[in-house]
Amino acid sequence: MRVLIVGGGGREHALAWKLAQSPEISQLFCAPGNPGIAQHAVCADVAAGDIEGILDYAQSMAIEFVVVGPEEPLSKGLVDRLLDAGIQAFGPTASAARIESSKAYAKTLMANYGIPTGRHARFDDAKAAQAYVEEQGTPIVIKADGLAAGKGVTVAHDLDTAYEAIDACLVDHAFGEAGAWLVIEEYLEGEEASIFALTDSRHILSMVSSQDHKPVYDGDTGPNTGGMGAYSPAPVITPEVFQTIEDAVTAPCVRAMASEGNPYRGVLYAGLMLTPAGPETRPAPRVVEFNCRFGDPETQVLLPRMKSDLLPLLLASCDGTLWRHTIRWREDPCVSVVMTSGGYPGPYEKGKVIEGIEAAEALEGVQVFHAGTKEEDGRLVTAGGRVLNVTATGKDIASAIDKAYAAVDLIHFEDAHYRTDIGQKALARLAEGRD
Ligand code: AMP
Ligand code: GLY
Repeated sequence: MRVLIVGGGGREHALAWKLAQSPEISQLFCAPGNPGIAQHAVCADVAAGDIEGILDYAQSMAIEFVVVGPEEPLSKGLVDRLLDAGIQAFGPTASAARIESSKAYAKTLMANYGIPTGRHARFDDAKAAQAYVEEQGTPIVIKADGLAAGKGVTVAHDLDTAYEAIDACLVDHAFGEAGAWLVIEEYLEGEEASIFALTDSRHILSMVSSQDHKPVYDGDTGPNTGGMGAYSPAPVITPEVFQTIEDAVTAPCVRAMASEGNPYRGVLYAGLMLTPAGPETRPAPRVVEFNCRFGDPETQVLLPRMKSDLLPLLLASCDGTLWRHTIRWREDPCVSVVMTSGGYPGPYEKGKVIEGIEAAEALEGVQVFHAGTKEEDGRLVTAGGRVLNVTATGKDIASAIDKAYAAVDLIHFEDAHYRTDIGQKALARLAEGRD
């Protein structure tokens, strides 16, 4: 089978690395890809958001199956276009992708179907939004309704911050169309974790848990990023909590969308807050957000743990035969440390020469996924905010952390930044469990 992956970051490198191991694939393509992906796939210089360009490329290369990584092409209707052209594609239609591309759509669906989440209200008028915030008090969360490249969320701990976020969105139009509406949400307290579920709109197949680290600095401080590292499994998601998430969140969401005539196929990303357990109660999962795609960098810690061939699972999500499948997983935990350009998520320089990846990958259990790299004059250089995802599996979480950081120590580029505490929350949670 001739398969095209759409995207060019660390998530797509992990997808390419995993799909390249599938015996069913005769040739793998990626648009636009990156130098890491080029080790596994033919890369084409077509942007992921260029819907017509991707369709033309898929047709010209006689692609039989397309796997879409990022949310942008999904929300722009790439899967709709491919299916109309007779090309099988993994991911939701534009209408179903609204579970991510419109926070108001997602929140209304959850409210209507009793899926646990924080209270919310939706505004297009700044004065009304301010009055609501005044009435609710802080902390409170202000979100642009549409896709804002991860920058549309403000967790406001005081009223001035909340008012500024409202004005940025509704008065200064900082997010353009994506901020024509805003959603104000109850602040949820607890530990975050994610569950991804493959679905063909009738059946779901949950994947193992993982946890991202959004803030740029150690101890969860500094501005939010696309993700500074991840680990899997997340010990906060015990087997009981996992079952609750399937029963109360992912399965009801997929059922709700089908019954609304908006069937969801692909991978449903449930970003959850595990609200603290009381003496008698276990942590209660509440939805922070749904995404319509694989997480980045969570995919980079999930796929190294997956024993099953990924291709048949993705195909079954498209053709309604997911019920025939199970997913086999390795027990060994996996940790990924994101190395970024200095300054990210603010302005940063590009073009810094990267050295040491080969030495890092020579370590047992280590895999380095490229996120923002390119080749220039025969050398590998930085080309984005998130540059590399240095990933390691180990017999336990502590050894996976040690291996990932041993690999990070071998990699160099000017002004590189990374968090030094990826995975520490898992260790703390495990230590608590032993008390
Ligand atoms: P989102 O883009 O919706 O994932 O939001 C980015 C981050 O903001 C999340 O990963 C959370 O850390 C935080 N956040 C979003 N919504 C809430 C909420 N209702 N309560 C607490 N934190 C939130
Ligand atoms: N890791 C967060 C995301 O993929 O949205």
